[in-house]
Amino acid sequence: MVVPSIRFFGRRKGKGLTPSRQKLLDNLLPQVLMTKEKASVLPKAFGVPVNQVWLEIGFGGGEHLAELALKNPHVGILGAEPFINGVASLLAHLNGSHRYPRAELGLEENRTDNVRIWPDDIRLLFPSFPDKSFKRIFVLYPDPWPKARHAERRFINMTNLPELYRLLSDDGELIVATDLTGYADWVKEQTQIFDKFHQVNKDQHVAPKDWVPTRYEQKGIKAGRHPNYFIFCKKSEKSA
Ligand SMILES: C[S@@+](CC[C@H](N)C(=O)[O-])C[C@H]1O[C@@H](n2cnc3c(N)ncnc32)[C@H](O)[C@@H]1O
Repeated sequence: MVVPSIRFFGRRKGKGLTPSRQKLLDNLLPQVLMTKEKASVLPKAFGVPVNQVWLEIGFGGGEHLAELALKNPHVGILGAEPFINGVASLLAHLNGSHRYPRAELGLEENRTDNVRIWPDDIRLLFPSFPDKSFKRIFVLYPDPWPKARHAERRFINMTNLPELYRLLSDDGELIVATDLTGYADWVKEQTQIFDKFHQVNKDQHVAPKDWVPTRYEQKGIKAGRHPNYFIFCKKSEKSA
């Protein structure tokens, strides 16, 4: 794959990190870091044997990813997030120290070592993944970039959809959520143009079974917004 020029337009840093969060970045992150080399041998990149791998792109504070990882100890979950405060927040969840910082800087006792983190733009890692690497790819509440002149910055676009298609296993699912009607319409439009995915959930306003809400989703609901959920599967090679 040719990666022309990749420029990340979001935030990489927020307010200053507490000393305990900084310690997690210094000590726990290296233990769970994804690298280009490991991405090429993906199932082996985890600290435990895993029977499938899921990818969450833009995990924010990591609440959703941490919950998925706890509920699915035999799934390897890779999260990508360039916002370093979000990475530190996920590490705090993995360390079990979200509310009550502890001295230990490893994984919470009894927690399965099934999470790996790429603290950067996921597009930089795309070329390293073999085809069909993931059973599920989550893009939850992506940055909307509502202005028309910023449309090319929206993650669901005609550059990234072919990569997401390549990276999904044949029975895999691309899961997208947004609470902005304009972005929901954009997702439908882009996937229709790309024409290699079909939506398998019937009602986009109904949360899929066992849905774990993200932080943005919860904030949006409190503010009166309504989530839209899309689960896409690959069309078969013949019909695509
Ligand atoms: C609006 S936030 C949503 C966070 C989280 N998914 C949630 O629902 O709470 C979107 C996140 O996607 C991240 N993001 C944007 N582009 C990305 C990319 N190319 N690779 C990885 N993460 C990305 C941003 O840094 C931001 O934290």
